[in-house]
Amino acid sequence: MAIRLGDIAPDFTAQSTDGEISFHNWKNDQWVVFFSHPKDFTPVCTTELGYTAKLKDEFEARNTKAIAVSVDSVDDHQAWVGDIEETQGTAVNFPIIADPDRVVADLYDMIHPNADNTLTVRSVFIIDPANKVRLTLTYPASTGRNFDEILRVLDSLQLTDGYKVATPVNWTQGGDVIVSPALSDDEANELFPSGFTKIKPYLRTTAQPNS
Ligand code: BEZ
Repeated sequence: MAIRLGDIAPDFTAQSTDGEISFHNWKNDQWVVFFSHPKDFTPVCTTELGYTAKLKDEFEARNTKAIAVSVDSVDDHQAWVGDIEETQGTAVNFPIIADPDRVVADLYDMIHPNADNTLTVRSVFIIDPANKVRLTLTYPASTGRNFDEILRVLDSLQLTDGYKVATPVNWTQGGDVIVSPALSDDEANELFPSGFTKIKPYLRTTAQPNS
């Protein structure tokens, strides 16, 4: 069944490049970016995993762990990791789950038979410390994902969890944010000492509270 926003991310135990992983245990109340790729030893996937490895410090700054999955074996993953290191100039510093029996892929609805009957699509799940799914993304095999956008969503989720704001189109760290429509003007004045701009009664902006 499809995973929807707000669902508890299904738990599983599987082999990975870091040994056996029990997902919820491994996650350990942190944020997680869980993503599938179609196949080892393919070009787009090689660039995606290399880039994700280079974001290690960015993920750590957001209390977030990355983990990948495909329907290949641990042996294939291990061999491919060497290629990633060689071609992308980085060690792969997060686990890649081996899912040759497609147990995890089925649990997370990562195989879309009308796109490809056997391989996982490019799914992304952002899962919060309470194990709730906060973002789902599905990309086709031929399009590499933008992992800077994944970081941007993490920033937005972590900001909007802490403050009564939303983030506007193309927002990035430090940009103005939107005052929650649930707040009255008086409440907004109390919560945002720097004030807010009222463009319409439903469209009010303020400086990013935690920047
Ligand atoms: C790739 O990662 O390059 C790829 C994987 C599966 C199908 C097409 C491209």
